[in-house]
Amino acid sequence: MEWSIVSSVLLAIVITTTISILSRRRKSLGHGPKLPPGPPGWPIIGNLFDLGSMPHRSLADLRPKYGEVVWLKLGAINTMAVLSSRAAAELFRHHDLSFATRALTETSRAHDYHLSSVALAPYGAYWRVMRRLMTTEMFVGRRVGETAPLRRRCVDQMLTWIEEEKAEAAAVHVARFVFLMTFNLLGNVMLSRDLVDPNSEDGSEFFRAMNGLMEWSGHVNLADLFPWLSRVDPQGLMRKMERDMGKAIEIGSKFVRERMNEKKEESTNEKTKDLLDVLLEFEGSGKDEPSKLSERQMNIFILEVFFAGTETVSSSIEYAMTELLLNPDAMAKAKAKAELSQVVGSGLKLEEADIDKLPYLQAVVKESLRLHPPIPLLVPRKATNDTVFMGYFVPKNTQVFVNAWAIGRDPEVWNDASSFKPERFLDSNLDYRGQNYEYIPFGAGRRICAGLPLAQCLLHFVLGSLIHHFDWRLDEKVSRETMDMRDRMGIVARKLEPLFAVPTKGL
Ligand code: HEM
Repeated sequence: MEWSIVSSVLLAIVITTTISILSRRRKSLGHGPKLPPGPPGWPIIGNLFDLGSMPHRSLADLRPKYGEVVWLKLGAINTMAVLSSRAAAELFRHHDLSFATRALTETSRAHDYHLSSVALAPYGAYWRVMRRLMTTEMFVGRRVGETAPLRRRCVDQMLTWIEEEKAEAAAVHVARFVFLMTFNLLGNVMLSRDLVDPNSEDGSEFFRAMNGLMEWSGHVNLADLFPWLSRVDPQGLMRKMERDMGKAIEIGSKFVRERMNEKKEESTNEKTKDLLDVLLEFEGSGKDEPSKLSERQMNIFILEVFFAGTETVSSSIEYAMTELLLNPDAMAKAKAKAELSQVVGSGLKLEEADIDKLPYLQAVVKESLRLHPPIPLLVPRKATNDTVFMGYFVPKNTQVFVNAWAIGRDPEVWNDASSFKPERFLDSNLDYRGQNYEYIPFGAGRRICAGLPLAQCLLHFVLGSLIHHFDWRLDEKVSRETMDMRDRMGIVARKLEPLFAVPTKGL
């Protein structure tokens, strides 16, 4: 009896799979539009080897042979890669809605993270409400301005750390200090606390757990490519993710509960509102949106801000510093005679209000993000329905990579595309706010980076402070000729060989 049920189910699976394959082949081979072109794949693994360890670079290399839209099979996952600004413009202008949902990874499901995350939420009511909260209540210019004193304090603290390190070691690991500073800053903006304070036990534990989460979610996970492996968890990534996510949520909950109790006790709380207050005070319509946020939703929101903000900012600053050290003319222009010392004064500190008057520094940030976007394939999207895109058939559930790295280096759009030339942005209106599809380090369309105003402010203020406060030179172990500019993919692309540089003089 049981056998007959099993064999009927198997037969049904075989028939439906065959019908679906045949109808897809008809669409792709027969009369309708075809799938985009792409390299032939191997059985089972498909095109995995075509990706290599730096997928944004390998995908860019496919363009001369296959064109600006390329089709790949990554294990069992249908994937389309968009490689040119023309194709990106077509996607964001005419198909943004069809690709506005995210492709999920296995580890993003740990503790149901994906259900409360903004960056991974499906396009819909929950995403809309959280996104609105972020872009109108939290990371909007006015609110970002209010937290300027926090940034001042955290950047000053970072400069002191570097001073101290300078006394002990010749060269400093620049990105490490920027990472710690950003982590602390986000801790203050979100929760009004220093999280990398050696005196705070919970803070250090939270920091360790968050570091674990970033590590595990940055690995290539076989279970993402072969979903039937998810139960086996062959690399143990899900197990580690569950463990560290559990820890981070537990500590996050403590922070949220403490604040709820404080709020009950002090009805006239005079302290400046932080982002946790914004979350606690949220009142939705209750119709298609929650009337209050649950503790779980607030917790995940807090984790997400750390996920989204720390590595992106520290990797961007590391690359910008590297480019400046490799291009002494650009460093000289950004730093001294031409700009910083005139606007700021040689003995004074850079203030955020100075940034508007520093066009060369702005051009340096833009140029560095063009060459080294920290999320080179954006956050992967997914087709919500069968779509015809640029004449090609793109089946529902196809994962979509938009290669911002390749687009920023497209030789048809950019002169001398791989050289670092901030001057190209000086007399240009080209901007990273998602309107210029040849330059999309923050993405574009509905899912463009929700923290852009804060990121923009941080990048200029931190980079400007580092080069104004110190003179820098390369560590003697590397030279302009031997500097390794390769990156490695994790949760963001960061420099494979970290930048060690020597701060030679303080203000
Ligand atoms: C150098 C700094 C940063 C860069 C280059 C960057 C870049 C990006 C990119 C490329 C995306 C995906 C966009 C797309 O799919 O079209 C994204 C999404 C996002 N970013 Fe950023 N980001 C940065 C910093 C930040 C910061 C500081 C925050 C918040 C504190 C933040 C919050 C987010 C969120 C919440 C999303 C998801 C948006 C959504 O799916 O609706 N980012 N970011």
